[in-house]
Amino acid sequence: MEDRIVDQEADANEFSYELSLRPQKLTQYIGQEKVKSNLEIFIEAAKIREETLDHVLLYGPPGLGKTTLAAIIANEMGVNIRTTAGPAIERPGDLAAILSALQPGDVLFIDEIHRLPRAVEEVLYPAMEDFCLDIVIGKGPSARSVRIDLPPFTLVGATTRAGSLSAPLRDRFGVLSRLEYYTVEQLKQIIIRTADILNTEIDHEAADEIARRSRGTPRIANRLLRRVRDFAQVKGDGLINTRLAAHALELMQVDRLGLDHIDHKLLKGIIERFKGGPVGLETIAATVGEESHTIEDVYEPYLLQIGFLQRTPRGRIATDLVYKHFNIEVPHKA
Ligand code: ADE
Repeated sequence: MEDRIVDQEADANEFSYELSLRPQKLTQYIGQEKVKSNLEIFIEAAKIREETLDHVLLYGPPGLGKTTLAAIIANEMGVNIRTTAGPAIERPGDLAAILSALQPGDVLFIDEIHRLPRAVEEVLYPAMEDFCLDIVIGKGPSARSVRIDLPPFTLVGATTRAGSLSAPLRDRFGVLSRLEYYTVEQLKQIIIRTADILNTEIDHEAADEIARRSRGTPRIANRLLRRVRDFAQVKGDGLINTRLAAHALELMQVDRLGLDHIDHKLLKGIIERFKGGPVGLETIAATVGEESHTIEDVYEPYLLQIGFLQRTPRGRIATDLVYKHFNIEVPHKA
């Protein structure tokens, strides 16, 4: 298997590993200061009033800590968390079963909530608003609706695409929090914290080197750290210094900005085959050999953020920065 740096999800093994590295409390969570300080107040207020926390929508690019924050919210509220994902809930009955099994106050975390089927979403509206289920019994003229009460709960929804959420669903969240890419300094702190948990010695300059190549994303930072640590154990004396980190990252084909071979294929494809664009998303996806939604959700956001890509109505354009990054002469514009 190719060693992908920008997976949509870590594999199962890494996923459980990752869970143990995750901060459990808001005070341990590095970065996202605005989101954190707001949540702190809303959680405290809900606790004082002895109410459930209002429903929370977390949105932003993958790997920035939405799942971690959901678990922290439950932990800070002193309740249990039930976790599921949009595509896993196929029928209204599936969601009804999950909702009716909740304990009072529980957090229900629905990842990829934009992928809930419409019929399932409709079950969620009265559940979120009035903590009840409207079940239709029978068919045709004799059909009737029965209302079932649910325990009060907090829905925490996560999505990479707030724009794909239907307006009625979006409107039922009381707290909307957008997660931003992390700064190099914040990623450095996360790497040092993780290295400490893993009992790995790392010097600060090496942590900085890994941080700069982590595309503003803690999930990538932690994954790169684990791979560099493998190199340190096998090829070095276990200590992670800058030289070793830079060498290991080079071998993993992660460049100075954290771009991997898929990013390179994507950007070079636009430059070499399409004269820098504009080029449509589907065409890019075919060139790279990835699904278009993977390009849109996983690769593109960071390239847009660092100003390498521009989105126009006619397609994507590679900016002059891309030519400079690859040491290719910028073509003269007509
Ligand atoms: N591990 C992954 N994300 C983190 C964060 N935001 N703060 C601390 N540790 C993390």
